[in-house]
Amino acid sequence: MIILGIETSCDETAVAIVQKGRQILANCICSQMDLHKAYGGVVPELASRRHIHCLFPLLQQALTDADLDLQQIDAIAATYTPGLMGALLTGICSAKSLAFALDKPFIGVHHIEAHLYSSWMSNPQRSIEETLPALGLVISGGHTLLCHIPKLGVYNILSHTLDDAIGEAFDKVAVMLGFTYPGGPQIEQLSKQGDCQKYRFKAGMSKKHPWHFSLSGLKTQVLYALWGQDMATLESTKNPLAIPIQVRADIAASFQRAVLEDLISKTEHFIEQTQAKSLWVGGGVSANEALRARFEQLNILTLWPFKALSVDNAAMIAGLGYHQYKQCGPSSLYLTAIPRSPLSSWGLSN
Ligand code: KG4
Ligand code: ZN
Repeated sequence: MIILGIETSCDETAVAIVQKGRQILANCICSQMDLHKAYGGVVPELASRRHIHCLFPLLQQALTDADLDLQQIDAIAATYTPGLMGALLTGICSAKSLAFALDKPFIGVHHIEAHLYSSWMSNPQRSIEETLPALGLVISGGHTLLCHIPKLGVYNILSHTLDDAIGEAFDKVAVMLGFTYPGGPQIEQLSKQGDCQKYRFKAGMSKKHPWHFSLSGLKTQVLYALWGQDMATLESTKNPLAIPIQVRADIAASFQRAVLEDLISKTEHFIEQTQAKSLWVGGGVSANEALRARFEQLNILTLWPFKALSVDNAAMIAGLGYHQYKQCGPSSLYLTAIPRSPLSSWGLSN
């Protein structure tokens, strides 16, 4: 079965073609990073317009890469939740229109479930039986969460963020350090030349929910550390780049260490509690090499997505769409975009 996947939930327009859930025949992405850089974050209206502009040329490109024509596609999958309303609508409406015109099934896919699936998709030597039950870790721009996966399509949420998502925290700290959006990769780069023990930063802990994540206080610690350096320079230049590079590198490295320590301790706790056979990691922050190296020290089989599948992509949408179709059949053409979906609504169903 060959599935065409469309992803437009945020600032990447992506179209992919995947056979039997894992074999990627085409994976085309058009990033909007340059468009949003000047604003320090994604501008929803601009994102939707750019998706409309890029979608059909990308579809054409994907078909050419896969050496297929539209009639050879068996079903069309698209992200329907979560994401920016206008951006989601461009993808889901295009997918439904294609499905209707071609008389093929339409499959609405949950973006965060697809991030988790991308890790299993990237390890074709692993069978599903070998890896389940698993612990799932989503670390993206919009989510930080841990869940128990007893079988594909069932996700029991164990822990989630109470404030900022991990990628969001990386991006906000990056702005404080003088970088542009998205800042995660730049913090990773700068951390390499910094002393990660220089500042005793620590992620937050809620007394009521000790296993949930809280990063907003950590952001404030970074801000105070920056102010503590040279308030006069900061105030006169309004430019964090005026702070010596070594100081900014030490702050970046200490921030990254604090985030990793927090992630590791919570992940270890739930590995023990759930007796999971493997750890599935998904989301843009999983591209971070320091994080990968630290997690490799855990005593569990860890499945990482290929770098190209760490960030938003359509291969994971087409891949998970295949399993969803096999388990639950097509989605209704009445399914519409849902910008925020409650964690309780997770799971493969139509
Ligand atoms: O999963 P994703 O592509 O989009 C969402 O669904 O949110 O994640 C994007 C996030 C951004 O916050 C970006 O800064 C972060 O992933 N990111 C990283 C790295 N690469 C991307 N964070 C830390 N280190 C990286 N190497
Ligand atoms: Zn994403």
